[in-house]
Amino acid sequence: MLIRPRRNRKSSVIRDMVQETQLSAANFIFPLFIIDGNNLQTEVASMPGIYRYSIDRLLHEVETCMNLGLRAFDLFPNIDESRKDKYATESYREGSLYLRAISEVKRHFPEACIITDVAMDPYSSDGHDGLVEKGEILNDETLAILAKMALAHAQAGADIVAPSDMMDGRIGYIRNVLDENGFANVSLMSYTAKYASAFYGPFRDALNSAPKHGDKKTYQMNPANQREALIEAELDTQEGADFLMVKPALAYLDIIKLLKDNFDLPIAAYNVSGEYAMIKASARNGWLDEQRATMEVLTGIRRAGATAILTYHAKEVLAKKWL
Ligand code: PBG
Repeated sequence: MLIRPRRNRKSSVIRDMVQETQLSAANFIFPLFIIDGNNLQTEVASMPGIYRYSIDRLLHEVETCMNLGLRAFDLFPNIDESRKDKYATESYREGSLYLRAISEVKRHFPEACIITDVAMDPYSSDGHDGLVEKGEILNDETLAILAKMALAHAQAGADIVAPSDMMDGRIGYIRNVLDENGFANVSLMSYTAKYASAFYGPFRDALNSAPKHGDKKTYQMNPANQREALIEAELDTQEGADFLMVKPALAYLDIIKLLKDNFDLPIAAYNVSGEYAMIKASARNGWLDEQRATMEVLTGIRRAGATAILTYHAKEVLAKKWL
């Protein structure tokens, strides 16, 4: 045999020398859940090791994470049912839990990169990402609400706003409103190809944000489709997005690769709550090696073409020095 691929695998020095994909803390975005109250930290039952933090605890958590080398955080609020309404007014109310959290984190850690989630669901009494009228999700009427929310996030100090709602035209609409109000430097990370997925289950437990009726299939994408992702990516690019995100990650590695091959914007991938829960549950049962499985998943997402990875594993990976 002239060609023996195994020669390049014969020692760890050579294996490391020919390794194509590298992961570093700089690739990670760590999602954090926020809850109202004081000195409060409640674990998400379906996401072992992941907590909802009151703002005081959140600041400690961010500090711990920064000391481990994490620098980018995506914040998500758990909103009390009594504050939800049809128009998600809580999402831009001055002094709201979420806006306070953004500005407090920014005040204590100006060097941290704060990413905020733009969508109505955590604040909506319907539990949908858009405005609901007679069972329908209204697209254009939702845009103004999303833009108010994004502007409030920018005013509170967000570095990047991330619309996760999948309404048509929201990237351009939000870009315009941010620019008109002096926030041309606030970035947009678009959830470009967000699929109607079963893997968001634990996240909806964390935020108590599941739809009260119906599903999200009229706005989130059909898992069977690839080509629609190209349309979405083209629109987001034209409308001024700075990042294109694919979500979930694991069942959609082909979509990550497709966008990477066809667009020049950086690609982010969201390794979602259900993907985290799968690994945690099997590791707890002793069914797989958690460290190896986690690193294999994260490396696979990088290899497919994602530069930024939103992942609940980020803190543990760094704390346990798995990199
Ligand atoms: C809501 C939103 C969701 C996630 C991020 N933003 C859930 C949904 O669309 O129902 C899911 C994240 C995860 O599962 O980890 N706009």
